[in-house]
Amino acid sequence: MRKGFFLTIEGVEGAGKSTLAERIANVLRACGREVIVTMEPGGCELGVRVRQLVLDSANVISDRAELLLFEAARAQHVDETILPALSCGAVVICDRFADSSLAYQGYARGIDPDMVRTLNDFAASGLVPDLTILLDLPVDKGLARQNGVDRVSSEGVGFHESVRQGYLALAKAEPDRFVIIDATESIDKIVKRALEVIE
Ligand code: TYD
Repeated sequence: MRKGFFLTIEGVEGAGKSTLAERIANVLRACGREVIVTMEPGGCELGVRVRQLVLDSANVISDRAELLLFEAARAQHVDETILPALSCGAVVICDRFADSSLAYQGYARGIDPDMVRTLNDFAASGLVPDLTILLDLPVDKGLARQNGVDRVSSEGVGFHESVRQGYLALAKAEPDRFVIIDATESIDKIVKRALEVIE
């Protein structure tokens, strides 16, 4: 039985997702809520190993294989980390989730979005976020801010522009689940807006 709250944070490279996740978590913990901050790919032992594999620039990975690796990591992450925490009533804040696969593998790589949705649904066991915050900013600003470069993030500007447009289309299609926040604002403003929405 699901009792918690499932929040996902999405955005292009360098949008500031992990900083926002930590800041929201600190506020909610101070209010007495149990909060788990997790990420994709990652969030469990298998997820961390898949992350190393799929993001390693030394590996040549086909688009279909890439999608399936992200989905395999997601399935384990959902079963091992997310669903147990939600069933205990925790707030789960996840840095990237199924919408990343739609934006990156669907919109940007060009895999049929219906196929990505089907695999997302299978991997997530039908779990859908209660709320998704899309941190939106121009691609060049995000790329200038990003820390490290990996096999996916090292794609060209055109690829990341497709990711951004994909996210905006997803948000438009599901306005009840998505909230878009301008990631060029100060982090304090972004956190304030995010907390207003969560409340
Ligand atoms: P992440 O560590 O969040 O990168 P960053 O902090 O730079 O935004 O994610 C790693 C990369 O994996 C990122 O380039 C997006 C990509 N990714 C996908 O392409 N599909 C997915 O389903 C997920 C979860 C991530």
